[in-house]
Amino acid sequence: MTRDFWGGEVLEELVSRTKHGDPYVRQIARALLGNVEKGSNGWVRRVMSLPEMNTYNSPFEKALVLEKIMLHYILYEFWESVIHLGKVQRGELAKVKSRINELDQPEWDKVAEQITDDIYLRVAGRPIQTHRLKRYESLIEKIVVPLLGKNGSEIVVADAGSSSGAGSQVARMQGLPLKKWVAVDMCDPKENLSWVLTCSIRLGEILDGRFRKIIKNMFNWPVEFQFVKGDIENLPRKLLTGFADVYLAVFSYYQLKNPKRAFGQALKVVKTGGIILLTDYFLPGKLTPESVITPGRGGLLTTGVWRSNGAGRAELITSYLWADTDLSKFI
Ligand SMILES: C[S@@+](CC[C@H](N)C(=O)[O-])C[C@H]1O[C@@H](n2cnc3c(N)ncnc32)[C@H](O)[C@@H]1O
Repeated sequence: MTRDFWGGEVLEELVSRTKHGDPYVRQIARALLGNVEKGSNGWVRRVMSLPEMNTYNSPFEKALVLEKIMLHYILYEFWESVIHLGKVQRGELAKVKSRINELDQPEWDKVAEQITDDIYLRVAGRPIQTHRLKRYESLIEKIVVPLLGKNGSEIVVADAGSSSGAGSQVARMQGLPLKKWVAVDMCDPKENLSWVLTCSIRLGEILDGRFRKIIKNMFNWPVEFQFVKGDIENLPRKLLTGFADVYLAVFSYYQLKNPKRAFGQALKVVKTGGIILLTDYFLPGKLTPESVITPGRGGLLTTGVWRSNGAGRAELITSYLWADTDLSKFI
């Protein structure tokens, strides 16, 4: 195995993904490693030398992008047809399901051989996006509702680093009295729908039908939902007005250059007594915006809950340790 061309770090990341709990993740990682073995004839090395790849902060994100390129190739036409028609066509779904079912290791190796420059250029350099309804369900059910949802007054939520209405749909389904859900992301949600879908939905979720819930969500944003395109480290003034009861950031702080600055802005977004929830991996024993670290780096998956005291400060009131990235179980 050649370990020279990225200091070995992305390779190590891929090797660790060959032991992942999801069989598709394992197979894709093996196929990518096989492509690396082809030396300069393999596309993986070509992608890695693109300037676009400098967008990503860590070997983990680079490894994820390589995986997304493979998924994009498998799912692109399916999502294009869904987006074009606004619904899932039975025939197209049957085709994509049988394709996924065929995907044993030799098939994945073939997929890796079929990736062309054109395909990886559609993906390289785009932000990593994994909108998972489950995370929002758990956060709302286990933390937001117990803290705020009981008194019946309508809540305003700011969702920092989220380009879908996922959270607002979930909040409505869970009966959270919701006045407004404002999601802020630097990516435009509609423009990137195909990309968002490719990155958000696991192949297993297509096979067992769970993906339909996500599609429904993406095409039926509730009226309370509002999207603002922007940088959460540099929010537009209209959001720095103490308008929100809750500020959520779910797996977005690890992508920031200056998480401390984003947290300072969060303090201006929430009203006095409002709460800030950061969900990310944190360095063990530390719970500050600056101690958020990239997933896979040995941190603890935690939701920290701060309450704003109105003087541009917030106190940490509680925290929750999670057992999995879907946030379904507390430790
Ligand atoms: C891993 S995704 C998480 C999405 C969502 N919160 C979830 O849990 O499914 C991180 C999101 O943060 C966004 N993001 C990263 N840096 C950002 C910034 N400085 N300003 C706004 N959005 C940002 C990315 O575009 C991406 O949509």
